[in-house]
This record gives sequence, C-alpha cells and structure tokens, in this order.
Amino acid sequence: MSAHQSQSLVTINTLQNLKAKGEKFTCLTAYESTLANIISQAGVEIILVGDSLGMVIQGHESTLPVTMDDLIYHLRNVSRGNVNSHLMADMPFMSYATKDAALLNAGILMQNGAHSIKLEGGHWICDLTNTLAERGIPVCAHMGLTPQSINRIGGYFVQGRDTDKRDEMISEAKALESAGASLLLLECVPSDLAKEITQSLSIPVIGIGAGVSTDAQVMVIHDLLGISCLEKSPKFVKNFLAENDSIQSSVKAYVKAVKEKQFPAEEHTFF
Ligand code: KIV
Repeated sequence: MSAHQSQSLVTINTLQNLKAKGEKFTCLTAYESTLANIISQAGVEIILVGDSLGMVIQGHESTLPVTMDDLIYHLRNVSRGNVNSHLMADMPFMSYATKDAALLNAGILMQNGAHSIKLEGGHWICDLTNTLAERGIPVCAHMGLTPQSINRIGGYFVQGRDTDKRDEMISEAKALESAGASLLLLECVPSDLAKEITQSLSIPVIGIGAGVSTDAQVMVIHDLLGISCLEKSPKFVKNFLAENDSIQSSVKAYVKAVKEKQFPAEEHTFF
C-alpha cells in the first residue's frame, strides 16, 4: 500500500462486483499527479493513463507517436497522486506487435505502477490477452474505434453499423472474454450494439461514445473540463466544468451523472 492509500484499492474484483450488482462505475484519464489525486479523491474507480496523451499533452494529431518511455513517465506521475483508484495503462502503438514485445512491455508497465493494461484489437489480440492473463496481468481489450489503427480505418467513424461488422464485434468480444480479458472497452459504437455486448459478457464493459447501457463510462479529462484545440468536440463529449465551479466538483458531477445514468444522455449517443 502506498503512502496515499488509507482506503482500499479498487481491484478487478471490485469492478466485477459492481457489474454483478448492476452499479455503474467511472473511468477518467490522467497524465499527472495533481489531477490523478483529484480524480481518485472524487471516487473515480479507474484512472486510465491513456495514449490520448499524444494528442492532449504532446499536441500530436494521433496517438501513434507515443512511446513506452512517454507512457512510463506519465504513469509514474499518476501513480504518485493516486489514492485508491485502479490504474490502467495503455500499451502504446507497436508495443504489443509481437508476443515477446507484449510480455516485456506489459511487465514494465506493471512494474511502474499499473494494475492493468489496455490493448486495442479484436480476434488478433486474443492470444496475447491469454498469455498476459496467464502471467497475472489483467487486460482490458479496446474495441470499436481503435485510434492506433486510424490510418487503416481512415477516420474517426462510428464502428459496427452494418450487420457483418456488428456480428464480428459480438464474436470478438466473446472471444476476448474467453481468452481471459478482465475488462472490455467499446469506443464509438451504436448504443444497441454496446448494450448487446454488455449483456452477453460477464466481464465489465466500459464505454465511450457507446451509450448509457455499458457497465461503466470513460472520458478524457480534458474533454470533461472543456479544454480542447478542436473547433468542434465529438458528439459523446460533455463539458462538466461548464456547469460546475471547480475541477473537483466537475469530476464529482461526472461520477454522479454516470452512476445515476444521466450521462451519457441521448445527445451524446450514436444510434
Ligand atoms: O487513450 C485514451 O485516452 C483512451 C480513451 C479514449 C478510451 O483510450
């Protein structure tokens, strides 16, 4: 237990129990210590040290330039500020391109404070997921819009709108659960597909742009605070600071809105 942890750490079991009880939980990104402390104190169950840092911290146009060294630097800072949230670390682009690379890099992230790691992909990451899970590393599989594949996808579009893609995503989600994934994250998918996947899995499903029916929601902290260089925010984003007078109260309002199923509302949802 670190110096900050007088309350018990949120574990994969905690999240699994919340799903079993039908209670929603929250995830927020953080990249540094002070905001990590505020987010954890506000009761956010998971802090994600996301490779979105490439865009919101480093100013790149995509997440692709983020390196293991970048991720480790931000993870260590977040870890020092965290109180008792579960710390999830993104595996950067190409850091899990082979099984050997995945084992090495996931191990390094765990040794630098992560409690779980997140990988983007479907069927192709099943084998990796199994290998990591068998070695004691909880995996969150990120499906739907996977920003590390932006050059192949061709843009930030909603995924799973046609029947073939939809069936494929349901089958991939089930395969990832069978392979040993502890969590699934769905980004930018129609809400009815996210609902079907959430109901057909026993592991918790976290959504962003995936409607209100997933077990949990994730947001990028900059979006929650309305800080953006973009002219137009994505549909699924809500600026909580616009209705609150501090960062602390904005994060607490996000937690409350998710738990009470007020966020995401219809206006933030793809159908
Ligand atoms: O890197 C990140 O912040 C993410 C979230 C958008 C889910 O993957």
